[in-house]
Amino acid sequence: MNFYLANSFLPIKASAMAGKVDDLYIFLLISSAIGLLFSIGAMIVLVFKYKRKTAEDETANITHNHTLEFAWSFIPFVVFMVSFFWGYNVYSGIRNIPKNAYEVKVIGRQWSWEFAYKDGFSVGNELVVPVNKPIKLLMTSQDVIHSFFVPSFRNKLDVVPGKYTAYSFTANKIGTFDLFCTEFCGTKHSNMIGKITVKSQADFDMWYKKKVETEKAAGSDPVLLARKGETVYKGLCMACHSIDGTKIVGPSLKGLFGSKREFETGPSMVADENYLRESILLSTAKVVKGFGPNSTMPVFKGQIKEKDVDALIEYIKSLK
Ligand code: CUA
Repeated sequence: MNFYLANSFLPIKASAMAGKVDDLYIFLLISSAIGLLFSIGAMIVLVFKYKRKTAEDETANITHNHTLEFAWSFIPFVVFMVSFFWGYNVYSGIRNIPKNAYEVKVIGRQWSWEFAYKDGFSVGNELVVPVNKPIKLLMTSQDVIHSFFVPSFRNKLDVVPGKYTAYSFTANKIGTFDLFCTEFCGTKHSNMIGKITVKSQADFDMWYKKKVETEKAAGSDPVLLARKGETVYKGLCMACHSIDGTKIVGPSLKGLFGSKREFETGPSMVADENYLRESILLSTAKVVKGFGPNSTMPVFKGQIKEKDVDALIEYIKSLK
């Protein structure tokens, strides 16, 4: 398997979006260079052309020139609008996550990466994913802000403590690629380097199966993350929250993820991982309409393990 080092100006492209990012980048580079050439070039030429020749030379009385003024306003306007719409298009292509994306959790900490898979096992510093499949990385940090950057994917996103951010890509090249932390996060920031290995679907399945077996052999039975979440649910939530749509004390968890939530106060929103996390830890933050004005749910912030929150969210996501 090839290891493609990210040690050149534009490292090898390995994601579906990488080519589009490069095209935009090159357009910006060239249009900026032309703009620079015109303004600096014109300045140099004019400085010499209209240099005062004798002591009696007087400055001509120039008021304005419509054609010229229109040209230097309109041409940059067109270039800026093109950059904006093109940029918006590429940006939304990177940020919109396909519904069927394969999800892996990313935990950043000083100074390493952890990747947690659905079956409850984790790997450190080397993420393994299948090729040509949309991947969603649900990322959070245990300490300070880090930033997840894979040069070959031309995509970068902050990893923030206390909330989730979602990074997505579709790798289209088999091989191993560099992963860097690009947010200064302490003395060993520059050592916070990882790898992403992209395998064919068959190789990935084999790797995955072996991983689960190794974990089992080592005695730490990998339990499906959602299963772990169900145990947490039974211990902490079941008395007040149903999973079949019936109302007990609090809102039911059935079909909650991805649904639109109306609140007692404040604007409505679609329930995503950050919303679930906030509601688990501090239920008073957003009280669902019809359950207010005050939440009677205990505050779990600081009382529940991060891993349990993750598992619980995974479980709630499975309640379709
Ligand atoms: Cu983590 Cu820099």
